[in-house]
Amino acid sequence: MLNLVLFGPPGAGKGTQAEFLIKSFGLDHLSTGDLLRSEFAAGTKLGLEAKSFMEKGELVPDSVVIGMIKSKLENSTGSKGFIFDGFPRTVDQAKALDDLLNENNTPISGMLSLEVDKQELINRLLNRGKDSGRADDQNQSIIENRINVYNEKTLPLIQYYKPQNKHFGIKGMGSVEDIAGRLKSVVEGL
Ligand code: AP5
Ligand code: MG
Repeated sequence: MLNLVLFGPPGAGKGTQAEFLIKSFGLDHLSTGDLLRSEFAAGTKLGLEAKSFMEKGELVPDSVVIGMIKSKLENSTGSKGFIFDGFPRTVDQAKALDDLLNENNTPISGMLSLEVDKQELINRLLNRGKDSGRADDQNQSIIENRINVYNEKTLPLIQYYKPQNKHFGIKGMGSVEDIAGRLKSVVEGL
């Protein structure tokens, strides 16, 4: 099984690149951001609870996202592997994910970390915010808060995966196709 953590700051291109990885390797995509937005769109209690955090660019509590991933993993049988997109985002989430995967002896194969300049992230997200309908793309201060939260709480995960030799830094600037090519060659080498 090929289990990939697709990692990077808000706007790094995780969702965009997940599409290419799905086509190349036939993996299942698990994006906690997408899952939370569909919970919210469906008006569930979980979605409503998450909304206030997401609109401010703060992290949703670990227990909520871990529970969501747990139930997705339990309900998917026969998968070739998963692309975890936007998850884990804290060290506690990474530990919980390892515990879940270890139950089935299917560990993380690699952490693909997209590296993009801050100003480029802001430009991409403000641009998408013009028509995405995402509340957290609407203004620069919320976008900057998302980046700050990433730097403070999520970036330390590199130090979680590095000692396991699972961290791969990938330049996330340039054309979508070029970046997809870089990711593909790293995954083929795993
Ligand atoms: P989430 O949905 O995960 O959002 P994010 O990480 O902030 O970032 P995005 O999904 O916006 O960016 P992306 O890296 O996927 O880039 P994309 O491909 O879309 O999380 C949202 C919120 O949910 C969080 O703030 C938090 O509240 C909550 N949450 C989610 N997961 C959580 C967790 N595990 N724990 C706690 N809370 C959680 O690309 C961005 C834009 O750039 C697009 O318009 C795209 O077309 C464009 N683009 C992509 N690649 C390129 C390129 N090469 N050149 C130019 N433009 C490009
Ligand atoms: Mg995304």
